[in-house]
Amino acid sequence: MLGNFTYCNPTKLYFGKDALDGLNKELPKYGKNVLLVYGGGSIKKNGIYDKVVAALKANGKNIFEDAGVMPNPTVEKLNEGIERAKKAKADFILAVGGGSVCDYAKAVSISVNCNDNPWDKYFIRFEEPTCPIIPVGCVLTMVGTGSEMNGGSVITNHQQKLKIGHVFGEEVFPKFSIMNPEFTFTLPKYQMVSGIYDIMSHILEQYFSGTDDNTSDYIMEGLLRSLIHSANVAVENPNDYQARSNIMWTATWALNTLVAKGKTTDWMVHMLGQAVAAYTDATHGMTLAAVSMPYYRYILTDGIAKFARYAVNVWNVNPAGKTESQIANEGLNAMEAWMKKIGLVMNITELGATEDMLDGMVKSTLIMDGGYKVMDEQDIRTVLKASF
Ligand code: NZQ
Ligand code: ZN
Repeated sequence: MLGNFTYCNPTKLYFGKDALDGLNKELPKYGKNVLLVYGGGSIKKNGIYDKVVAALKANGKNIFEDAGVMPNPTVEKLNEGIERAKKAKADFILAVGGGSVCDYAKAVSISVNCNDNPWDKYFIRFEEPTCPIIPVGCVLTMVGTGSEMNGGSVITNHQQKLKIGHVFGEEVFPKFSIMNPEFTFTLPKYQMVSGIYDIMSHILEQYFSGTDDNTSDYIMEGLLRSLIHSANVAVENPNDYQARSNIMWTATWALNTLVAKGKTTDWMVHMLGQAVAAYTDATHGMTLAAVSMPYYRYILTDGIAKFARYAVNVWNVNPAGKTESQIANEGLNAMEAWMKKIGLVMNITELGATEDMLDGMVKSTLIMDGGYKVMDEQDIRTVLKASF
């Protein structure tokens, strides 16, 4: 049964080849001083930077740059961004990049006017912002996280060996996001497939939970079928606009809070992946891919009916004459074969994890209780060990 919920998604989307024109509609709504946030320079190579700067200038903005946001943005970079935003007296933050840049922009937006230590307040104590928030807009260049239409922000603290995500409320969502699928064409294949698996994982984290008959599960099966199909096309031909636009749109729906409404969710794959990343700084989607099979095989019997449904409805497993367990296992085997085919990393060793990190990774794994099996430390150790 659908549980009670309220639903509002305040982010306005501009999608398609002309999406960037949306800046001309949105920028006039905000003040003059714009903090332009971006990553390690891909936007300078592919021309997106020039287009964005031209739009900012055409709209009479003062541009203050905050470059060098790294994948898995750090707490040190966040502190630097806060100072830059203060110095610029930023009225608006424009994030141009992937999930790391968008997440970081949100973190800066809620920290500039915060009198507390942002890491402790938001990522250790999980408190909500209590200060004025600087509005954020995004120009998305990497697909996967859903950060373009949610309140999520994930920050890494290497000193404390923690990578923590906080899903903030509506006031932290981007005011708008610009989504031109062509902006993703220059992504290296490693990043493209990593993003594809991030999308799949977001859906599965919300799908593998609960035993009720829930509309969200049917929506998610549709999203998964579209994703698998489009990923197969995009891996063969990365410039296929139809496939890339479908993947981009699926990513947004996978994590813009809609499919989680009225149902329970798991999120243990992300907790495991974040612990791996806290030690290796590996690419987000790859950390998820590397722990997924060991985790799903570990909890299979606890959620057997849903895994069998997944096998039939998503992987086209023919159930005739088979036990639930056979069907479920066939589904996971099909998923594993597909993951290997598109080029995902299937173990944490390849991501730089070593046995001496195991104890620490176990401790860094936050435990969620919405999945088919509530894990304890020993369970987490077993899954991580199987992921090497
Ligand atoms: O830094 P640049 O030079 O721009 O290069 C980036 C980066 O190296 C590159 N890139 C991005 N767009 C490109 C491009 N290269 C060529 N052409 C383009 N068009 O791709 C690399 C990865 O970028 P990044 O932003 O790190 O990737 P992603 O979008 O996967 O974001 C990962 C971060 O988001 C968090 C992750 O934990 C991680 O920190 N997540 C955020 C979530 C949310 N907000 O809800 C949920 C997710 O589960 C996830 O945890
Ligand atoms: Zn993710």
